Amino acid sequence: MSSMSEEMESKYAELRQIIETHKDWPGALMPVLQAAQEIFGCVPEDVQKIIAEGLGVTLSEVYGVATFYAQFRLEPVGKYLIMLCQGTACHVNGSELISSAISDELGIEDGQTTPDGLFSLEHVACLGCCSLSPVMMINGRTYGRLTPDKARKVIRDLAAQSAKGEE
Ligand code: FES
Repeated sequence: MSSMSEEMESKYAELRQIIETHKDWPGALMPVLQAAQEIFGCVPEDVQKIIAEGLGVTLSEVYGVATFYAQFRLEPVGKYLIMLCQGTACHVNGSELISSAISDELGIEDGQTTPDGLFSLEHVACLGCCSLSPVMMINGRTYGRLTPDKARKVIRDLAAQSAKGEE
């Protein structure tokens, strides 16, 4: 456990260092948020608080910027990031049914993560393989010609793999 908190400590130290070098710059908030997201993978509230205090701005100002720009995530992404295509070809071929099946299977909607931290769901624009529509990509692997049952099976297989300790 201690190595985990040491890792977090060094991340916080890195963030403080970045705040220190940026704090007198006008428009420092954006680059500091971007750096924070690189360090932590997201900008949760405790990180926003450190940024607000460090830059001398209000927490609501930091929150406002973090929520305005789609590039920022407020919570950690799951072990498996499901990017479900919502492009035209996929839409025409039933991506909505796939979306409902995934939401039903995992109990999450677009932009959310399962409480066990295993899966995140993100609706995305065309993934560039429309001939396989409807398509989803999970951690860089493409799954095409999906049906609701096929999508559920992919998710169950990944959950089972993860439970067995495989990547
Ligand atoms: S529309 Fe889904 S891959 Fe192009």
